[in-house]
Amino acid sequence: MKAANERQITELELSEHELSEIRMLIEERTGICFDKSRERFLVTRVREHLQARGFERGTDLLRAARKSNVEYEELLERLLTQETTFFRYPAVYEAFQKRALPELHIKKFWKNPRTLRVWSAGCSTGEEPYSIAITVADTLSFADAWNVEILATDVSRVALKQSETGRYSGRSISSVSEAQLAAHFSPVKNGQQVKPRLRKMVNFTQMNLASTVYVGRMDVIFCMNVLIYFSEQRRRSLVQHFYNTLEPGGYLFLGHSESISKMPVKFQAIVLNDCILYRKPTAEELQKSHSPTEGRS
Ligand SMILES: C[S@@+](CC[C@H](N)C(=O)[O-])C[C@H]1O[C@@H](n2cnc3c(N)ncnc32)[C@H](O)[C@@H]1O
Repeated sequence: MKAANERQITELELSEHELSEIRMLIEERTGICFDKSRERFLVTRVREHLQARGFERGTDLLRAARKSNVEYEELLERLLTQETTFFRYPAVYEAFQKRALPELHIKKFWKNPRTLRVWSAGCSTGEEPYSIAITVADTLSFADAWNVEILATDVSRVALKQSETGRYSGRSISSVSEAQLAAHFSPVKNGQQVKPRLRKMVNFTQMNLASTVYVGRMDVIFCMNVLIYFSEQRRRSLVQHFYNTLEPGGYLFLGHSESISKMPVKFQAIVLNDCILYRKPTAEELQKSHSPTEGRS
């Protein structure tokens, strides 16, 4: 009999039941749903994993993943979608630069310490939090006089390890301008490395968004292209968590196809060019919107 790792991926045994158990395990622990549209992706990746790990059947994989966290994380890593690039949606960074940062600048300029806290939730391999750091460094006057803290979290340890090196090349940095490359990167073998000044702004931490922890108050949250993988119920509770985490007047940025218009949260939706950003109203603004219209008899 051929060893499992010599067999064709399609020969490996994987029943509907095993697949559904794997689907449930991942959804229960991370919130990630594999609906019909992602069925092929799931089957292909699970088969690849069976072969790579030398498991004969889906049941063996399930048993191992339930018993050992290391096995579970290896399976999870194979099922994550981590596509990302620097400045993935230019309109989002333009809105961050032209709307959110100037407003926060005015609000915080005389505060001591002058702190700006941004959370990149689901940061993948780090392109998003470093794009945030570049935008902040290029926008805030006297950026060095600010205490800028960018918390970058992801469930994937592999992605976080890559993020911490700050090394990028090819398509990933194709949207970084020449001026930004010169100011914020140093050439290294086969690519570019983010300079220490920016790397110091970003703190990478493993975090599962399905079991949220308190991260302190944030001025801005980016959670782009993560909610699309979650169930409606999980999306709602996460968006509520983001609302509670933001400072009044703080901003939430989501991916292009992620709308929260039908959710019962009190964000103000602001449309700027090709981007919708969500602002948490201040207590005063909330009160105004609830009080009866002035001048009514
Ligand atoms: C498609 S990437 C998005 C990266 C980046 N935000 C962007 O838009 O370019 C989705 C990221 O979400 C992460 N992710 C998925 N489920 C997660 C969870 N439950 N907790 C934390 N991160 C999660 C994945 O590991 C992946 O890195």
